[in-house]
This record gives sequence, C-alpha cells and structure tokens, in this order.
Amino acid sequence: MIFSIHCYYLSSPMDAVLFQISYTLGDIDKAAVQFWEVLHTYRIFAFSGDLGAGKTTFIHHLCDHLKVEDVVSSPTFALINEYHFREEGKDSTIYHLDWYRLKDSAEAINAGMEDCINEAQKGAARCFVEWPEKARELVRGPYLWISIAPESVNERNMTVTLIN
Ligand SMILES: Nc1ncnc2c1ncn2[C@@H]1O[C@H](COP(=O)(O)OP(=O)(O)OP(=O)(O)O)[C@@H](O)[C@H]1O
Ligand SMILES: [Mg+2]
Repeated sequence: MIFSIHCYYLSSPMDAVLFQISYTLGDIDKAAVQFWEVLHTYRIFAFSGDLGAGKTTFIHHLCDHLKVEDVVSSPTFALINEYHFREEGKDSTIYHLDWYRLKDSAEAINAGMEDCINEAQKGAARCFVEWPEKARELVRGPYLWISIAPESVNERNMTVTLIN
C-alpha cells in the first residue's frame, strides 16, 4: 500500500512524533487533508528536507486544501509570501518563509522573519518555514518539525515532531 498514515497523540511534555505519512504526488492531496486534520491547531510549521525534497510542493497542496486564493509559490527570492484563507468564518494569515538564502539568524531578523514568528506565536498567524535550520534559534517552541525525505523517486516520507 503506497498511502499510509499513523497518528500518535502523546501527552508527554517531551518532543513527540505526532504524525507520519508516506505519499506520492497522486496521494498528496489526501495527505494534506490528513495533515491539517491532525495539526491545524499548531502555529509554527518548520519544513525540513534537502533541495527538491518536496517542501514547497506539499505547502502548495496544503494551501489548495485551505482554499488559499493568493498565488502559492516558492518564496526563494521574495523570502516571505503572505497568504490568506477562511477559517471558522474569519480571515487567517499564513506566512510562507524560505530561509535558504539567509546566512544566519541576524540576517533572518533583518529580513523581518522574527516578526512573522512572533505573530504566529501569539496566535495571530501561521508560519510555514522552509530551511528552518538556517536560523533555528528563531524557531521557538512549541513548533512542528516536519521532515520530508524521499522514500523512492516518486514517494516521500514525512515525519512530524512536536518540539516544546
Ligand atoms: N511524493 C512527492 N511529493 C512531493 N514532491 C514530489 C513527490 N514525488 C516527486 N516530487 C517532485 O519533487 C520535487 C519537489 O520539489 P520542491 O520544490 O517541492 O522541493 P523543495 O523541498 O521545496 O526544494 P527547495 O529546497 O529547493 O525549496 C518536485 O519536482 C515534485 O514534482
Ligand atoms: Mg522549496
């Protein structure tokens, strides 16, 4: 079976694996629906994975599921993309951040990344961060660390850990 899902709800205050899934591009919309069902209450989503692992692709499909009307694209040059969607009758904001081109946390702060993270921590927005390892000090708990790695040419494995 190509599509599989395992959810674990753990009450431990330590880091915990909350969600694990394997998906192909054929399954990705279903994966995005399951992902959001389990994880929508969180605010900071750190997407980790090598070049071409599938971070932007997953975020794109997730935003399609959320009915984001803005153009969802890789913020490689703009560094910050802002999207909006309706959630429980209200406007919700997503900041899609790409830290690949940043050298360190100082550069990230200068580029306005800390403001986005602070807003998300207050519950006023969500942050989807690609290449969070470039300024990991800025990503404070609680946040989700989402590892994406190829399982085969067309299949990806995703593991979501809650970091407190
Ligand atoms: N199951 C899959 N899930 C996601 N992407 C897949 C899958 N199978 C193949 N792909 C392909 O892998 C590529 C992933 O590219 P994507 O831009 O999403 O990666 P990325 O992790 O955002 O890379 P970067 O670090 O450069 O931003 C796309 O060409 C996509 O079509
Ligand atoms: Mg990308």
